[in-house]
Amino acid sequence: MNTFRDYYNNEVKLTFEDHYFSKEPKHVWVICNYKNKWLLTKHKDRGMEFPGGKVEEGESAKQAAIREVKEETGGVVEQISYIGQYYVAGKGGTVIKNVYYAIVSELVSQPTYFETDGPVLLEAVPVNVQFNSRFSFIMKDDVLTHCMKKIKKEYLS
Ligand code: GTP
Repeated sequence: MNTFRDYYNNEVKLTFEDHYFSKEPKHVWVICNYKNKWLLTKHKDRGMEFPGGKVEEGESAKQAAIREVKEETGGVVEQISYIGQYYVAGKGGTVIKNVYYAIVSELVSQPTYFETDGPVLLEAVPVNVQFNSRFSFIMKDDVLTHCMKKIKKEYLS
């Protein structure tokens, strides 16, 4: 278990165990790779972040992850793997989120990307992302660093 503080000083707990906090989490976050680049979305308020969101009524967390990637980036998920789960003790309540790693095979141009301005492709996620105002707060804690390390080791080496 990794315990740390997020950008807003909320406590975060991250585990790579299988659905440790909840079998049916209500939130998902998807670290996406498209043609060896990182695929993010540009949220209108928060800035650049990996896509994600809430699980809707009647869908599984994995289905939500695939849907959110499509909605926010136009990306078609070819392969998706569960990475871990984190718990945030937020000021307005707690959030439990599944983290996935997805390989995107195609980027479809769409009339809308929902609350975002659509896809952003990066060769690398900057190391000092926490000081970069163009990035969302959800990219600014150790969830990203720990998950990227695991993904690079297990899927990209
Ligand atoms: P809406 O119901 O869509 O308005 O969502 P919300 O603004 O209430 O946010 P949500 O329920 O998604 O999250 C509640 C709080 O949890 C947020 O204000 C954040 O402080 C925190 N939170 C949500 N997702 C993350 C995340 O991925 N990382 C971190 N560190 N905090 C998060």
